[in-house]
Amino acid sequence: MDLESVLFTQGFGARRQCRAIIAEARVVVNGSLCTDRDAQFDIDALTFEVDGTSWRYREHAYILLNKPAGYECSREPQHHLSVFSLLPAQLATRGVQCVGRLDQDTTGLLLLSDDGKFVHTYTSPKRKVPKVYLATTKHPLDDAQLAALREGVLLHGEAKPIAAVAAHARDERRLELTVLEGKYHQVKRMVAAIGNRCEALHRERVGGLTLPAALEPGNWQWLDESDLQALRAG
Ligand code: URA
Repeated sequence: MDLESVLFTQGFGARRQCRAIIAEARVVVNGSLCTDRDAQFDIDALTFEVDGTSWRYREHAYILLNKPAGYECSREPQHHLSVFSLLPAQLATRGVQCVGRLDQDTTGLLLLSDDGKFVHTYTSPKRKVPKVYLATTKHPLDDAQLAALREGVLLHGEAKPIAAVAAHARDERRLELTVLEGKYHQVKRMVAAIGNRCEALHRERVGGLTLPAALEPGNWQWLDESDLQALRAG
């Protein structure tokens, strides 16, 4: 692939901007400065630097973000910052979007990608991907509440009750809840339906992929093939 196309596909702007970046001698490929926009490179395992930052060529971007509270899963947020402000601009330029949404006050594992098929697969209601949440509740949890969540609760506007795949209390006010759907405010509504209230919500796992303990809130990482396999295996 020619260098201009490498930059273009990886989100460095319109072709005109990519040509300018190359002409301004800001790109190093395989350790050597390259100012020829037509220079050809094998994209397999290609690494390059722009302004000293290193990138690997990726056909698609698969990202895991540890979402902090106070960020909206939208490019045009209404009342808070956008999760995209936590990512390099190149990712938004190449069309990365959120795989489902977390509420602005929900924290934890958020997937993002520019692979339309992947985004569709993991947001489709048909694909029942387990999602594990940790909800901090206002009132102490009791067995009747946990049983009700497992048996199913009828949420306003829904035709059928929704049951959690698993619901247990980690301690008096911390509920671990596994759900298959991704309905609007689902966990908060389920907790409200059992007569309790969700005071904080954190997503720990999607499919077989767990939020890495070392990834600080606000930080992100690329997902590699083994992470994607773990996600599918869940
Ligand atoms: N359920 C909710 O209520 N909010 C989220 O952000 C995710 C699941």
